[in-house]
Amino acid sequence: MIPAATTPVARSISAYAVARILREGVTLDQALAGALAAANPAVAPTVRSLCYGAVRGYYRHEAILSRLLSQPVGSLDYLVRAVLSVALFELEDARSPQYAVVDAAVASAKSTDAARASGLVNAVLRRYLRERAAIDIQIASNPVTRHAAPIWLADRLRADWPVRWTQLLAASDTQAPMWLRVNSRRSSTADYLLRLQAAGIGARAAERVPFALVLDQPCDVQALPGFGQGDVSVQDLAAQCVAFPLALQSGHRVLDACAAPGGKTALMAEREPGLARLVAVDLDPKRLERVRENLRRGDLGAELLCADASDPAGWSGDARFDRILLDAPCSALGVIRRHPDIRLRKAPAVIDKLPQLQMRLLRALWPLLEPGGRLVYATCTLTRSENHDLLAAFIAGTADAAVIPAENWAGWPGFGQADAIGRQVLPGEAGADGFYYAALERQ
Ligand SMILES: C[S@@+](CC[C@H](N)C(=O)[O-])C[C@H]1O[C@@H](n2cnc3c(N)ncnc32)[C@H](O)[C@@H]1O
Repeated sequence: MIPAATTPVARSISAYAVARILREGVTLDQALAGALAAANPAVAPTVRSLCYGAVRGYYRHEAILSRLLSQPVGSLDYLVRAVLSVALFELEDARSPQYAVVDAAVASAKSTDAARASGLVNAVLRRYLRERAAIDIQIASNPVTRHAAPIWLADRLRADWPVRWTQLLAASDTQAPMWLRVNSRRSSTADYLLRLQAAGIGARAAERVPFALVLDQPCDVQALPGFGQGDVSVQDLAAQCVAFPLALQSGHRVLDACAAPGGKTALMAEREPGLARLVAVDLDPKRLERVRENLRRGDLGAELLCADASDPAGWSGDARFDRILLDAPCSALGVIRRHPDIRLRKAPAVIDKLPQLQMRLLRALWPLLEPGGRLVYATCTLTRSENHDLLAAFIAGTADAAVIPAENWAGWPGFGQADAIGRQVLPGEAGADGFYYAALERQ
C-alpha cells in the first residue's frame, strides 16, 4: 500500500524522474538515483512504485491520451506527459480513489514546472474518468496498446517472431521474478534454501539448474543471508545458463570480453575454481568498477582490464584463450520486463547499428582463441539480426569456425529453442529472461 503521507511529494519527484528518462534518455535506475538523492528516504518506495508503473505503462498511457487530447501527445512538454503517465498508472493500479488521484495529479502539476498545464491535466483526466469504459476496451483489444509497446518494438518482434510476437509483448509486460545464484564454493543450493527459510524468505530451487533458485517475492538484497559475503548473487536464470555452452574446465584460460557489471565473470569464477586465467575486459571504467566490487564481495579473483575488446592489439599481447565469452552489447529486448525503460530509450536507428559492432567484436576476438577452444556468443535480445543472422554471416566468412550444436551443450536445462547455430530463450520461458547463446569452436 502506498503510504498516504508520502504521496504528494512522491508524485512530483516521480514526474520529474520520468520526464528525465523521456527527455535525456537516462536509465530508470539513473533517474531514480538522481530523484532520490536529495529526497526524504520515506518517499523512496512510493517513488519507485510510481516510476516503474508510469514507465512500464507509458506507451499505453500515450495511447489513452491520444484519444483524449485535441493535440498530438508529442506536442506536450515531457513533464506534463510524465505527470499524466504517473496519474494514469495510479488509476490503473486502483489503490487510491479515482477523484483523489486526479486532484493529486493537478496538485502535483501545480507544484512543478508543469503548473501552466494544470488545467489541461485536470480536464484530460476527468474526461478519461467519464469515457474510461469505452477507451479501456479499445486499448485492451489491441495487443500493442494493451502491453504498452512502442510501434517500432511491435513491428520488430512481429517481423522476427510472426507467430509469437504478441506472446513476447505480453511476457515483456510482466514483472520479472528475482533469481539468485548460489555460490557453490560456499554452500549447496539445498543448504542455502534452509538459510532462506530460517530468515522467513520463501524460495524454490530451479528444476534443472543446480545453482539457481527463485524467490517467491523480490526482496532487498541486504535481507538475503550472506549476501554481503558473496554466498549468493542476484542473476537471472537465463544469464546463469551461460555455464552450459561454456563448459569450463580446470586449467582453462578464459577471456570475458564485455564483462561489466561482472555477473558472468563471477559465475565463471565460482563455477570453476581451477581456471588458469580469468581476464575480464570492459570499455567502461565505471562499469568495470562494479566487476571489481562483485568479485570482491565473493572473494573471487580475475584480471580486470579497461580496454576496447574490438581492438585487442593494444592489450592482449600474445595471450591465447581456451574460452572466450562475448556477452555483446545488444538491444536488450529480452529483458524489458526487468528494465521497462528500454522501451522508452531504444530507437530502431540505434538497434540497426548494433550488428556492425557485434561483428567487429567477433572478428577481433576470434584470433585470440586457441585452436580447439570455444567462443560463446551471448545477447539478452530477440532480434535475429543480432543473433542467428549475425553468427551465420560470421561463420560464412571465418573458415576455422565450427558450430557446437545447441543439442550438444552438456547439462542444458531443456528450455529455449535451438536454431541452426545457437539457442534462443524467450522471455518468461521457465521464468527466465530472453537470451540467445551460441558456441563456436576454432578448428
Ligand atoms: C551486456 S553487457 C555485459 C554484461 C556482463 N557480461 C554481465 O554478465 O554482467 C555489455 C558490456 O559490453 C561493454 N562494451 C561495449 N562495447 C565494448 C567494447 N568495444 N569493448 C569492451 N566492452 C564493451 C559495455 O560497457 C557493457 O558493460
